Amino acid sequence: MRLSIFGLGYVGCVSAACFARDGYEVIGVDVNQFKVDTINSGRSPIVEPGIDDLIKQGAESGNLKAVTDVMRAVHESDISLVCVGTPSNHNGSLDLSYVKRVCQQIGEAVKSKPEKSQPHIIVMRSTMLPGTIEETVIPTLEAFSGKSRARDFDVAINPEFLREGSSIQDFASPPFTLIGADDENTARALRQLYSHIDAPVIELGIKEAEMVKYACNCFHALKITFANEIGSICKAMGVDSHEVMDAFCKDTKLNLSPYYLKPGFAFGGSCLPKDLRAITYKAKQLDVDAVMLNSILVSNRVQVERAVEMVLRTGRKRVGVLGLSFKAGTDDLRESPMVSLIETLIGKGLKLSIYDRDVELARLFGANKTYIEQEIPHISQLMKRNLNDVVEGSEVLVIGKKDDDFRMLDGKLNNGRIVIDLVRMLEVSQAVESYQGMCW
Ligand SMILES: NC(=O)c1ccc[n+]([C@@H]2O[C@H](COP(=O)([O-])OP(=O)(O)OC[C@H]3O[C@@H](n4cnc5c(N)ncnc54)[C@H](O)[C@@H]3O)[C@@H](O)[C@H]2O)c1
Repeated sequence: MRLSIFGLGYVGCVSAACFARDGYEVIGVDVNQFKVDTINSGRSPIVEPGIDDLIKQGAESGNLKAVTDVMRAVHESDISLVCVGTPSNHNGSLDLSYVKRVCQQIGEAVKSKPEKSQPHIIVMRSTMLPGTIEETVIPTLEAFSGKSRARDFDVAINPEFLREGSSIQDFASPPFTLIGADDENTARALRQLYSHIDAPVIELGIKEAEMVKYACNCFHALKITFANEIGSICKAMGVDSHEVMDAFCKDTKLNLSPYYLKPGFAFGGSCLPKDLRAITYKAKQLDVDAVMLNSILVSNRVQVERAVEMVLRTGRKRVGVLGLSFKAGTDDLRESPMVSLIETLIGKGLKLSIYDRDVELARLFGANKTYIEQEIPHISQLMKRNLNDVVEGSEVLVIGKKDDDFRMLDGKLNNGRIVIDLVRMLEVSQAVESYQGMCW
């Protein structure tokens, strides 16, 4: 498999040097003649631990050469990996000018490439927002090649996860190899390209793969900001932030784990809102500007508003709510976001009925009986003892939590009802088959 690598900056240089070391024939391409000459003379145009030796070995073995000639690079390779820059415009939007230009050039080269049994594959490694391949890359390649994707060439995304300073190690042992492709032939070619890398391979649709890179980088930025804000509050209180965060990181059940990382409805309960309020109030008193921590409850309220919007958009009036407490197996209604949602919907004039087995029991005997009767009587009086009564009387069903009790609904929803699954923040309009088993 012969590779052409477009853009010999950090990502391109490291990829070119590592693939050449791993035995591939690599042609690097850059518009910058100096970078091309530097690589051909066996030296690295970037500063990165370990790269000088790899480029020297690559140039000496003949596995790595660099050119400015796009036509030659495409004609003499089977796969083109695109690693050009995608910087920010002044307003923060993504500058795709390098991506467009390189796609024009590759397109022109594909146009004159002699027919082969396998179509040329163009793999984007640059970081690009979801939709860029569909709206920019493919149309540009098609326009300039006069050929069509899938029949004459293939396109995929394979985001890069290296970190400057440790990129050679990161290339050899990434967290995973991410392949975003819409067809099996392209995905197979990429699996083969990385078959020597010891990392799990994740295959997704193109847009999802484009987005994973942003989710990762947003989360990394969030982690750093979180640690810094906790650190600043600790410092102002004379607390050793490193001891705190060392202990924090030892919790791999809830803290450093997939827990709490599934998109869904707002959080609530007796602890998270209360504790966030207490620490952000304390930070304010100490003149610590905890911008990110301050924004969490605001964002949580917006999530409730999104759910309200989802229900209102259905245009229907009779709404059944399944699940009232903030999670399954509890009757605790303190700061339940479902209570906020329900109060807003009542205020908008909708007719609600509610079922929650845990809360129903509490209403009869539990410790929460007084709270339910005195604090939320307007909600208590909408509760039904029987799940079927709620389902039968509703045009829209809002599922508020995972509950085994709701399994009995499988196959019983096909009466033109709209189902809004807040566990996943999805509307599952009337498509009962696809809904089965989804929430539980
Ligand atoms: N730097 C990182 O650590 C890192 C990590 C992961 C992903 N990324 C992403 O990878 C992409 C590349 O990042 P980088 O830091 O390597 O960029 P860079 O700016 O260092 O290098 C880009 C290179 O592309 C070349 N180039 C521009 N137009 C070209 C064209 N038409 N043909 C050939 N070469 C062309 C430029 O001359 C330059 O050498 C970006 O989208 C970035 O967000 C970067």
